[in-house]
Amino acid sequence: MAYNLLKGKKGIIFGALDEKSIAWKVALKAKEEGAEFTLTNAPIALRMGVINQLAESCGAEIIPADATSLEDLENLFTKSMEILGGKIDFVLHSIGMSPNVRKNKAYGDLNYDWFLKTLDISGLSFHKVMQVAEKMDAMNEWGSILALSYIAAQRTFPDYSDMAQAKAVLESIARSYGYRFAKSKNVRVNTISQSPTKTTAGTGVGGFDAFFDYADKMSPLGNASSEDCANYIITMFSDFTRMVTMQNLMHDGGFSSSGITEDLIEELRK
Ligand code: NAI
Repeated sequence: MAYNLLKGKKGIIFGALDEKSIAWKVALKAKEEGAEFTLTNAPIALRMGVINQLAESCGAEIIPADATSLEDLENLFTKSMEILGGKIDFVLHSIGMSPNVRKNKAYGDLNYDWFLKTLDISGLSFHKVMQVAEKMDAMNEWGSILALSYIAAQRTFPDYSDMAQAKAVLESIARSYGYRFAKSKNVRVNTISQSPTKTTAGTGVGGFDAFFDYADKMSPLGNASSEDCANYIITMFSDFTRMVTMQNLMHDGGFSSSGITEDLIEELRK
């Protein structure tokens, strides 16, 4: 059921790679709720071509942008404002990549050039998106900007490797830029810390199936699905959450507040 929560709002959605992507689900929901938006991803990811199906069903245009390139981001905001006919109300940063994780490097044997790439793609790009938006005065008053995080920013999950540092940077940027954007434009900036989710980025992390099951058993409501995450994101883009800013919002079925659960005890007793 749709509620027209985003009627008249214009946005930019980063990171829809395939139909499992969280951003893909957000695009479908945003369309259902009346938003108009552009879709963007790194040029290399667009070569797969799957995103064209999404663009068609959402009536959205695709604008390639490597989120680490200021030039690409400037072009993205310029074109988005042209296509959508005005400034932007919401931005979803749904981007994550670590060459060290992808290539199975042990945490004690990291390649530091790759580490910097991890930080740039998965963390600093969030700052770049906002700095470009602010300099171009591309955001509408009371806009909403969101990025996706993971609890490995606070607690150690060994296979998450240098992505844990990237997520810590991401969450910190949300606080610092959230302050700045609130003062200048009443724009809110938050991160949503999502349960493990079966997507390309998620399943790329070693031992994913085990910690997916563990998190499911450690969460009284179970793991939050990507559809649930998309619903939460839509509310964060809507006018019902205008005073929420500079937060890392847990969307994890209760995982982060649980010490132990009966489900897990039962599993351990087997
Ligand atoms: P996904 O693999 O579908 O999405 C990641 C996206 O990042 C892809 O579309 C990829 O093309 C894009 N990307 C990579 N490098 C880029 C660059 N240089 N410029 C622009 N885009 C680039 O996976 P998912 O799970 O939907 O990931 C979305 C976000 O959710 C990420 O920030 C991820 O860390 C976060 N997250 C995922 C969880 C999971 O278990 N899947 C759990 C918690 C957070």
